Amino acid sequence: MQVAPVLLVLALALATPSSSAERKCVLTGSWINDLGSNMTISIMNGRGEFSGSYHTAVTATNNQIKISPLQGSQHRNNQSKQPTFGFTVNWSFSESTTVFTGQCFVDKDGKEILKTMWLLREKVNSLSDDWKATRVGVNVFTRRRRE
Ligand code: BTN
Repeated sequence: MQVAPVLLVLALALATPSSSAERKCVLTGSWINDLGSNMTISIMNGRGEFSGSYHTAVTATNNQIKISPLQGSQHRNNQSKQPTFGFTVNWSFSESTTVFTGQCFVDKDGKEILKTMWLLREKVNSLSDDWKATRVGVNVFTRRRRE
């Protein structure tokens, strides 16, 4: 058997980027969204539970923005290459809470992207103000850097 053709095939196989269908979308790492907010998911345990920090670029308050903790989980099906997930941000500088839910995708170029929807609950002072206490929206996150 000739070694050179075998090595050539091996080199080509290694150089070819794996298709988006093959790559797994991984939540851990640093992300930036379309508002310029930065999020780091630092710890993921075996049950898919994770924690991290969120540095929002915007606020509905007049308070000084501070980095805030987040906690969440991804779907328990560990086989999924494009898992769904949810997390809560407990804002350090306001009395609001935001929950995000979304899915981690690998796009056609092999880049990971988080498509999310969020619901923010603001603290209001009375029941009569409840009607104005929630906001909803969507955010798209891309990776800040490779870990
Ligand atoms: C607050 O203003 O009370 C807390 C900060 C809220 C920031 C929101 S959460 C949803 C949206 N996505 C972001 O990255 N920031 C805003």
